[in-house]
Amino acid sequence: MQTNNNCIVIFGASGDLTHRKLIPALYNLFKFGRLNKFSVLGVARSELNDNTFREKMREALLETEETTPETLDAFCSHLYYQAVNTSDAADYGKLVPRLEELHTKYQTNGNTLYYMSTPPSLYGVIPECLAAHGLNEEKDGWKRIIVEKPFGYDEKTAQELDVQIHRFFEEHQIYRIDHYLGKETVQNLLVLRFSNGWFEPLWNRNFIDYVEITGAESIGVEERGGYYDGSGAMRDMFQNHLLQVLAMVAMEPPAIINANSMRDEVAKVMHSLRPLTQDDVEHNLVLGQYTAAEIDGKEVKGYLQEKGVPANSRTETFMALRCEIENWRWAGVPFYVRTGKRLPARVTEIVIHFKTTPHPVFSQNAPENKLIIRIQPDEAISMRFGLKKPGAGFEAKEVSMDFRYADLADEQVLTAYERLLLDAMKGDATLFARTDAVHAAWKFVQPILDYKDAGGRVHEYEAGTWGPVAAEKLIAKSGRVWRKPSGKMKKKV
Ligand code: NDP
Ligand code: BG6
Repeated sequence: MQTNNNCIVIFGASGDLTHRKLIPALYNLFKFGRLNKFSVLGVARSELNDNTFREKMREALLETEETTPETLDAFCSHLYYQAVNTSDAADYGKLVPRLEELHTKYQTNGNTLYYMSTPPSLYGVIPECLAAHGLNEEKDGWKRIIVEKPFGYDEKTAQELDVQIHRFFEEHQIYRIDHYLGKETVQNLLVLRFSNGWFEPLWNRNFIDYVEITGAESIGVEERGGYYDGSGAMRDMFQNHLLQVLAMVAMEPPAIINANSMRDEVAKVMHSLRPLTQDDVEHNLVLGQYTAAEIDGKEVKGYLQEKGVPANSRTETFMALRCEIENWRWAGVPFYVRTGKRLPARVTEIVIHFKTTPHPVFSQNAPENKLIIRIQPDEAISMRFGLKKPGAGFEAKEVSMDFRYADLADEQVLTAYERLLLDAMKGDATLFARTDAVHAAWKFVQPILDYKDAGGRVHEYEAGTWGPVAAEKLIAKSGRVWRKPSGKMKKKV
């Protein structure tokens, strides 16, 4: 029987992700009664102690969460801190007595969840340092390790990282986090597809004309210019989050709902992506970088003026790609995927464009049939189809049938980090990326990395627009246009 009684050891506890996402997620799980016997041990090099760490986390929680003094005190009493020189194996010895003390105090039977929220260069180092003190061994309780993104920098480094981690942790102990998989609306895609008789028969090349996936952000790179410049839209959003979403749209129904069956199907999609050719990267790919502009009366910096970004950077803040999946379900159906920073809205959505009727009976411009799946914000599903315009004649107009998540107001929806942390504590890896899928995703994007490295074109686009004109041309080649969604899911957007 799996239990979520455990000690959560966060490496990188003085960093941004810890106070912005991890501690708030743990706080909410505690508040909702999902955590019982547990402690959190923060680890980093900074010389904090239990009290100063609690104080920092308390401040962070007061800023972002709805709290009461009692719940806040009760939660913070579970927080501890140990300063460790994270690149010195000997120093990890300090964790041994701390963990013993916490497991005894909270009766957590040695169950330990390690969370690597440090610079990625430490993802191979931390497992080795833990193993030097036997802290990876499962003889007294389970040991699991969550690895933050990015998992590698390309196919080769992802493989090397796997080898490094696998020396000390087995695959069933490794949880590669992709927070998009923790989003309720991404999981709902599977329920929508596989628990309703009416979508699945249409979900294939016979009825679907093309699929659009958009992961747009209105913010720029903010304070993360240094990190982002080594990453770019391709590594930051496309290789992980958007390819996982694409896999959820395209996968076959799993034989049963468990981690292996589900992840087998995801991996099959990644393996079925048609390899990108030189022609694809030259004609079916658009990379872009935002330039300065005025948005809503405010001056917005261009990417090259952002803090931490070299003045001659060629890093892309936008990418659009037309790709295909080579299998029986999807052969010949284009998937248009785009992502970017400083676009007009923050919106992640999938649009399934259905084929038109074989012959237009009423008018040449009959509305398209579309299913819009809004992942965020304003989570919703909208079916768009044509109905008769009242009055004389038989002209059709587009109407929509909408479902909004907000209508399920009585349901408590876990945020992505809440859901994923809880799953890892329960030993459920279903919503974590498996090694084969991660490698297949890197393999698929390698031609894009090569194209960039070889000096491939990075177009400019003005901040606050939908990316370079070249991206419009990319989809227009087949007579199609990108949807231009607003942040709000209005009746007709
Ligand atoms: P920060 O730079 O804010 O924090 C890094 C943490 O690592 C600090 O606590 C730092 O503390 C610690 N650390 C330990 N050893 C080292 C070392 N040798 N060099 C530098 N820092 C060290 O990063 P984030 O919290 O933003 O990100 C952590 C990881 O999570 C990164 O890999 C990032 O890619 C990933 N991530 C972050 C997201 C975010 O929104 N922030 C989103 C998705 C992924 P100290 O200096 O005290 O040791
Ligand atoms: C992170 C990226 O993984 O995802 C960020 O590093 C990006 O650059 C973020 O802003 C987007 O996540 P969400 O949940 O806000 O869509």
